[in-house]
Amino acid sequence: PTIYAITPTYSRPVQKAELTRLANTLRQVSRLHWILVEDAAARSELVSRFVAAAGLPCTHLHVPTPRRYKRPGLPRATEQRNAGLAWLRQRHQHLPPPQPGVLFFADDDNTYSLELFHEMRTTRKVSVWPVGLVGGRRYERPVVENGKVVGWYTGWRADRPFAIDMAGFAVSLQVILSHPKAVFKRRGSQPGMQESDFLKQITTVEELEPKANNCTKVLVWHTRTEKVNLANEPKYHLDTVNIEV
Ligand code: UGA
Ligand code: MN
Repeated sequence: PTIYAITPTYSRPVQKAELTRLANTLRQVSRLHWILVEDAAARSELVSRFVAAAGLPCTHLHVPTPRRYKRPGLPRATEQRNAGLAWLRQRHQHLPPPQPGVLFFADDDNTYSLELFHEMRTTRKVSVWPVGLVGGRRYERPVVENGKVVGWYTGWRADRPFAIDMAGFAVSLQVILSHPKAVFKRRGSQPGMQESDFLKQITTVEELEPKANNCTKVLVWHTRTEKVNLANEPKYHLDTVNIEV
């Protein structure tokens, strides 16, 4: 099956660095289609040029987050992930099944091992695995007994029905197509509940398929990039050339 990676991304000083690092990983994965969704009213020149030179199958979408949702404490990238889902459904709706595919939400700042993609490719419905450096702990993970998920090892809001980060699961295309209304919701979605609210619509805890050796290996890290120091950036353009960073 093809792996579809949906990546929301937004303009900031480190954007091109993040996308470069991610593309260098994704380029090494066979049968991967990258769905890059800009949080913007239009496709930017930077990302358009980047995509053209990325060297992997890529679809470049855009949708702006409404201003009222751009606030600390509110979920990020809801509209962008939904745009990716809509594109996937639209592209496949007229094709006859079976349509082998696996969907994964790949934020632009995380760190992904290549082994992770081998693991997720065998997803039948919804698969899960540990995520490193998240939830206020070294890692979070689904707790597995006899091959089934029976709970969650997490340091944060253990009451979540699926106590898992966006980077901790993959969904088969078939499940996405057979649940055409499953989307990320703004209304009623508390911070950190996006994953649970989405997974609730398409699966149950009993049904989850543990990957990464029964969820005992960390193959993805929720790394976050330090905010860059631009204290010495001149107010007006002083250089003799205009360089894209
Ligand atoms: C955590 C989770 O890992 C994310 O999957 C979740 O979306 C996020 O919380 C959330 O609060 O909703 P975190 O590292 O805090 O992640 O979030 P970011 O990495 O800053 O953003 C997640 C993704 O959304 C990134 O791919 C980022 O480029 C994108 N994003 C962020 C936008 O498209 N627009 C924004 O305004 C901010
Ligand atoms: Mn992040």
